[in-house]
Amino acid sequence: MSETLERWGSKRAFILAVTGAAVGLGNIWRFPYVAGENGGAAFLLIYVAFVLLLGLPVMMAEILIGRAGRRGPMQSLGALAAEAGASSHWRWLGLFGAFTVFCILSFYSVVSGWSIEFLVASVNGNFDGASAAEIGAGFESFLASPGLLIFNHSLFLFMTMTVVAAGVAKGLERLNNLLMPLLYGLLLLLAGYAATTDGFGTALSWLFLPSFGDVTTSVVLHAMGHAFFTLAVGACALMAYGAYMPDDQSLPKAAFAVAVLDISVALLAGIAIFSVVFAQGLDPADGPGLMFVTLPIAFSELPWGSLWLSVFFLLLLLATWTSAINLAEPMVATLQGLGWRRSVSTLAVALSVWLIGLLSAFSFSTMAEFRPLFGRNVFELVSSIPPDIFLPMGGLLIAIFAAWVMPQVRVKSALGVGERGYLLWRTIIRWVSIPLTFIVLLGGLL
Ligand code: TRP
Repeated sequence: MSETLERWGSKRAFILAVTGAAVGLGNIWRFPYVAGENGGAAFLLIYVAFVLLLGLPVMMAEILIGRAGRRGPMQSLGALAAEAGASSHWRWLGLFGAFTVFCILSFYSVVSGWSIEFLVASVNGNFDGASAAEIGAGFESFLASPGLLIFNHSLFLFMTMTVVAAGVAKGLERLNNLLMPLLYGLLLLLAGYAATTDGFGTALSWLFLPSFGDVTTSVVLHAMGHAFFTLAVGACALMAYGAYMPDDQSLPKAAFAVAVLDISVALLAGIAIFSVVFAQGLDPADGPGLMFVTLPIAFSELPWGSLWLSVFFLLLLLATWTSAINLAEPMVATLQGLGWRRSVSTLAVALSVWLIGLLSAFSFSTMAEFRPLFGRNVFELVSSIPPDIFLPMGGLLIAIFAAWVMPQVRVKSALGVGERGYLLWRTIIRWVSIPLTFIVLLGGLL
């Protein structure tokens, strides 16, 4: 296996590619509703702490493995393990990551499909003048139509897999360059609008004034899972992107920039969404439908509302698109590493994700009561277990590999920082990130 020669075009391009992977449904759709179900401010505080103490150091570990190996995840892990004289079984971690992103992409594609439907509906002005109750009922009946969900799921997956088939390099780089600043500008506008609603004050205190009475081990576990999910860490997906990282870039600086960009998108989206939730007297623990109901309600009252809403759903769609490409990449890279052609690998991934995704699509109607495990239906399972359990497990193993198994000279050069920076990272990951992830995971499982 030869080393990859491709590189992202610039340092900025690498940061934007990773930000494109990080910013997606996790920030705009999942964060508000998971926070809503887990008590608001206390959840937010714990999640931000986890992003800094676990997500960030583990993100560096994951990317540096890819950068040091310069191959697909399984191959990089195998080669670096061999170099260290460690067991070649470490390469299976790459396969576990591929399985994790497989589960995640199967529901991710279905939910991203919702934003296609909502984009079309808002372009058509379907929400103009509709009442909050009508919009809520409309969403319910949309979910109860598996045909519509499957159509949009198929379309989204097709968009994703065509880009993956073509290779991630230049197209994505340009797309990210253009879209990420735009997404930001729109979110700021939206949060600005939220500040004028009656719910703004309630939203701020609900988001920023924690009451720790609500904190249970399950809240802590969800917050940790979300920290990994939102940073795209724990499934070797960023490892794949790290393989194309420019040689002279500081990894901690890049990772820190991504984390700041990522958290701020979640905060802005949270402020915007909860202001409307409280202004309209809706329930913050409304689950996965939260933003698909609140945003149309908010915009239906704004001048030019349909236009704003359309642009917002368009940007959400593009943000999830760059994330989904990142989710698909490690599976395709893994199959390629087994000697398959890229086109065949892409097709195989597309078909199997599509098929399993159907189970999520049907989970809102025909299969709503099919609850194979823990009393949860398929959508509830794949949207909770892989993010909350598999990602921290993968992240833990990735961290152990980088902090304890890999030759540390390689770690230091792949981090791209001086001795002090390296020692700081190593101390945090060895004595904070690894034990903390382990304890929370164990506590959550028991
Ligand atoms: N971070 C993305 C989001 O917040 C989802 C995502 C993209 C992801 N790539 C990933 C999650 C890899 C886990 C692993 O929407």
